[in-house]
Amino acid sequence: MSQPLTQTEFTVQQLHDAFLKQYGSSNSKLQIYSSPARINIIGEHIDYNGGKVLPATINRYLYVAIRKRNDTKIFYNDLRFPGSYEFDINDDFVYAKENDYANYLNGILSQLKSRGFKFDCGFEILMVSNIPAGGGISSSSALECGFGFAVCDLFGFDISRVELAKLGQMSEHNFMNVKCGIMDQFIIATGKKNFCELLDCNTLRYEQIPLELGDYRFIVMNTNKVRKLADSKYNERRSQCEEALKILQENGVKAETLCDLTLAEWDKYSALVTDSILNMRARHCITENERVLKASVALNAGDLVRLGKLLNESHKSLKENYEVTGIELDTLAETAQKQKGCLGARMTGAGFGGCAIALVHKDEVDNFIENVQMEYTKAVGYKAGFFVCESGDGVTRVEV
Ligand code: GLA
Repeated sequence: MSQPLTQTEFTVQQLHDAFLKQYGSSNSKLQIYSSPARINIIGEHIDYNGGKVLPATINRYLYVAIRKRNDTKIFYNDLRFPGSYEFDINDDFVYAKENDYANYLNGILSQLKSRGFKFDCGFEILMVSNIPAGGGISSSSALECGFGFAVCDLFGFDISRVELAKLGQMSEHNFMNVKCGIMDQFIIATGKKNFCELLDCNTLRYEQIPLELGDYRFIVMNTNKVRKLADSKYNERRSQCEEALKILQENGVKAETLCDLTLAEWDKYSALVTDSILNMRARHCITENERVLKASVALNAGDLVRLGKLLNESHKSLKENYEVTGIELDTLAETAQKQKGCLGARMTGAGFGGCAIALVHKDEVDNFIENVQMEYTKAVGYKAGFFVCESGDGVTRVEV
C-alpha cells in the first residue's frame, strides 16, 4: 500500500502509486516529469526592462504524472489540494477565479491550441510538489513549464525549451493577466544542475556559469507572506518603467529598453525623468543591470565576498528605489546581512512577500537560521521558513 504523501516528503514511486489509485489502470503509458523552483541570484525586476539576470534552478520540484485517456476528457488532481478539476480538450479555455491552480494549466493549453497544436484525446494528471506555493521561488512557472513540457512530450509536440519558456510567459500575460518577464520560465526550462545562467533578456542569449560556492550555501528564507503577482504592484512597476523609458525616448535618448543605458548615460540623462517615483524606478533598473554584470564576473573569479556585497546593494535598491520589499523581506535580508558567516542577502523574485536568499558559510547555517528566525519573529509576529538549497536540473522527464 502506498504511504500518504506530504508536501515535503514523497518519492516518484509514491506519486506513481497514488496516480494508479486515483485513476485506475489503463493501456496508456503513465509518464512523470519534474520541474524545479528557481532562485534569482541577482538581477531583479529587470527581465522586462531588457536587462541581464542571473537565476539558478534549485532542488525543490513539482512532479507531474500524466497519461492519455481514451476519451476527450481532462482531469487535474494535486495531492496537496482537495478536489478535482474536469475539462474537455475541446473546451474554449478561459480564466475563471474558481479554477484556482487549474488556470495555469488551462492557460498553457489555450496557448498550445492557439499555436495550432492538435490533441487527439484527453489526459489525466496528478501532481505533487515541495515548492512553497506563492512563495517567490516561482511555483507558478514550475507549474507552467512542468505541465507544458509534460503535455508536449506526451503528445509528441515539437517545441524547444526556449519556446516552452515563451509559452509559459504568454500564458501569464494573456490568461493570468500578469505581465511578467521571461526569467522564471526561461531558467526552469533551460536550467542545469551546478550552473546558474547569465541571461540577456533582450536577445535571450545565455551563458551557463558554474555555481561554485565552495564552503558557502544559499539559504532560502521564506517570509511566509504569500502574495500573488496579480494582486501585487507588479504590473504597476512594469508600467512605471515603460513610462520612464518613454520620457527618455521622447527627449531624444536612444534606448530601446531601460537597461540599454549604462550608468554613465543614466547619470547624463536622469534629470529628464522629473517625476521622482519614475526616476527611482529607472535608477534601480540601470544600477541593477550593472550589478548583474559585476556579479557574474565575481562568480567566474570565485570572489564570493564581492558577490555578497552586490547582493546587499541589490536589496537596498529594491527597498529604496523600487519599493518592492516591505518589513518582512527587509527584516530577513537586513538581519541576515549582519550574521556571522553571511556574505550577503537579498530578496529574490517579485518581492512584496515571498522569499529572500542569503549566502552563508556551511558551518554557520544553524546559528544563522536560529538568529534570523528570532529577529524575524520578534519584528513580524510569526515565523519565517528556511532551507538550504542546492542547485537542481531544469524541467525533465523522470524514470519511474
Ligand atoms: C517575477 C516575474 C519575473 C521577474 C521577477 C522579478 O518572478 O515572474 O519575470 O520579473 O518577478 O525580477
